[in-house]
Amino acid sequence: MKRKVTKAIFPVAGLGTRFLPATKSVPKEIMTLVDRPLIQYAIDEARAAGIKEFIFVTSRGKSALEDYFDHSPVLEQELRKKGKTELLETLKATDMESGAIAYIRQHKALGLGHAVWCARRLIANEPFAVMLPDDVIAGEMPCLQEMVAAYEESGGNIVAAMEVPPEKTSSYGVLDIREDHGSMVRVGGMVEKPKAEEAPSNLAVIGRYILEPTVLRNLNKLKQGAGGEIQLTDAIAEDIASDVPVYGYRFRGQRFDCGSKAGFLQATVAFGLSRPELREELAGYLHEIIQTDKAAQ
Ligand code: G1P
Repeated sequence: MKRKVTKAIFPVAGLGTRFLPATKSVPKEIMTLVDRPLIQYAIDEARAAGIKEFIFVTSRGKSALEDYFDHSPVLEQELRKKGKTELLETLKATDMESGAIAYIRQHKALGLGHAVWCARRLIANEPFAVMLPDDVIAGEMPCLQEMVAAYEESGGNIVAAMEVPPEKTSSYGVLDIREDHGSMVRVGGMVEKPKAEEAPSNLAVIGRYILEPTVLRNLNKLKQGAGGEIQLTDAIAEDIASDVPVYGYRFRGQRFDCGSKAGFLQATVAFGLSRPELREELAGYLHEIIQTDKAAQ
């Protein structure tokens, strides 16, 4: 039976060590692309897909995230007094309906599967989405919205998928393709972070999932997988054997790996160029440094 997807889990407990020293005091999900934190992009995408309940799996040191989605009466009063209606409007993106957002602590860093499992009681017996805010996807239609539309047709578990260079498979969950139907792929198996020579394909899992509650039951076993962690990939793959289908969804948007510095910088440039008020100045600057670089060679 296919049901509506209204809940999403945002695993945000990671230490963000790749961005130290910044992440010593700033959660990486609060790091900004232009003027919006990574988490805002994920929340906007979730809302567009019809998500009504937002579950954050957090850890120590993430209180800035909770504050971000809270009302800030002093700031709002000040902006109102100064007649800054545009800025007040901008703040609306951070508004959350009372009770729509929940924070659960992951007490131990035992892996992505464990983080998702921490939210099991809030999900109960419904299909749900998982969004990894490190993966920022720009596209005409938000990625999760495309996936929800696909889910309404197919049911089952759906993971966002994208071809990666073979030497990069060791950074991703990788799909074993059973049937390839273009944008939808029926999956026959999944491997977490395989070496290039062991990867079943180069179709990698990107951080958007729509999952059946059976995956939470698989996670109950808390089995360790790759890197000694409890892997979400393994819990999804386990469904294949019990005939709950798993699909890979080749989304149309452009994905930025904001968990890496190079990806974060690329996203900053791309999102900067997509802003009409910044485009000309930024493009001019980029053009200039490329010319200078060429001349120097
Ligand atoms: C996680 C998942 C992996 C997936 C990736 C997408 O890995 O475990 O299967 O391909 O996200 O970004 P992580 O990047 O947290 O190591």
